[in-house]
Amino acid sequence: MNCTITRRTLLKAAGLSLTVSAVPAARAAATSTTTATLSARPGHAAITRGETPATAIWGYDGQVPGPLLRLRQNDTLEVKLKNDLPQPTSIHWHGIRIDNAMDGSPLVQQPVEPGDSFDYRFTTPDAGTYWYHTHTRGYEQLTRGLYGVLIVDEAEPLAESFDQEHILVIDDWLLDKEGQIDEETIGAMMHMSHGGRSGNWASVNGVNKPEISVDRGGRTRMRLINTCNARILDLDFGELDVWTIALDGQPVAPARLENQLVLAPGQRVDLAVDIPENFSEPKILGIAMRDSIYEAAYFVASDKPPLKPRDNSPEALADNPQSKLVLNLDNPLKVTLDMQGGAMGRMREASLGGKMTDIRTLVRSGKVWAFNGIADMDTAQQPLFEARRGSTVTLDITNNTSWPHAMHLHGHHFRQIRADGNSVTPGPWRDTHLMERGEQHTMALVADNPGDWLIHCHMVEHAASGMTGWFRVT
Ligand code: C2O
Ligand code: CU
Repeated sequence: MNCTITRRTLLKAAGLSLTVSAVPAARAAATSTTTATLSARPGHAAITRGETPATAIWGYDGQVPGPLLRLRQNDTLEVKLKNDLPQPTSIHWHGIRIDNAMDGSPLVQQPVEPGDSFDYRFTTPDAGTYWYHTHTRGYEQLTRGLYGVLIVDEAEPLAESFDQEHILVIDDWLLDKEGQIDEETIGAMMHMSHGGRSGNWASVNGVNKPEISVDRGGRTRMRLINTCNARILDLDFGELDVWTIALDGQPVAPARLENQLVLAPGQRVDLAVDIPENFSEPKILGIAMRDSIYEAAYFVASDKPPLKPRDNSPEALADNPQSKLVLNLDNPLKVTLDMQGGAMGRMREASLGGKMTDIRTLVRSGKVWAFNGIADMDTAQQPLFEARRGSTVTLDITNNTSWPHAMHLHGHHFRQIRADGNSVTPGPWRDTHLMERGEQHTMALVADNPGDWLIHCHMVEHAASGMTGWFRVT
């Protein structure tokens, strides 16, 4: 990444449209509908903040991130997607337990042709931090910037009050010297077969190294989203006092962050961050690289007089309906998922179009990974599994590759199950779960949302080259 750090980069960042200074108050009980029109179209973004010409991107309303969509839990969102791009597109509402027909995946929706539009309409059962993004040619369209933030506010006022809220969308970009997206490498087999496309510029809310203004003595709710194609972020908050309060939208018991925070592509985290009363010099939000810290953003003190710091630790957020789902592990549907392939892997052949195909031919067809020996499970007739609505499914996943993968479920959250003698310790509910190379994890979900759903690696180059399957809930 571009690692030149000078005083010059501390200029005030314009366009930090996602920094919200007040937290919305809860409204009256009746549910309501929020409407928006999103035009997917070309635009420009000052990612490098003037170090190069502005970057030509594709974005919702021509911006990156796209417009912030925000509504209350149990409310309805209606979005008209207008396709003003030169190729078909669609929107997926990442992490929302949505009506299947509105999921935006190719299993349930024909991509919207250029010049056409599509009306999405759904309710939001769980509060939390979500995002929306293209689900067509992700390895190209996500690279170009087609994503935005979706916040669902808690139906009930929070027990905890925050003085501020900050939304930090972290992305990386592979740009040439002119600051333009390196187009030749979009969808390159080199990226597909290795760790996916990683950038040489980082952005937070669409700009490199912005300043984020924080109130001294205040407690801020920070919502972080990793929208990178493939980069796993190890985030470093220096000496700031940070608690994790939600993962992938779902509340967790507040826990002090002791180490770096790992955020894989697609994942989100909500944090409570206490800003010291005497905070003065910029503090760094760092991305830990192998042997150094790359500055992603700077926290700087606002002009407000210091607030009186709290002496309590943050309270837990109220449970979502998702968090109340109960696994029935006595008699689950047991599914195994063997992840195979990639550079430095042992895969020699896999099934493609129903025929066993050698690796050279697979590569020529743009496939280099497989699930359970099938390189095109996304278009295969057979789902990975079929579950009755309400049943518990365990997914025994083995990452038999030399690369980490961020496994994402549509329409559901799942949690890791660790057998501990006789007792079972469940991990947090997540919609995206990181599997390091060689790892074997047992995940469990309650299949309570009827329809056909994708399961894929969220490293979008991997998803396009074999790491996509699907499951059916009836
Ligand atoms: Cu956020 Cu199918 O992806
Ligand atoms: Cu992957």
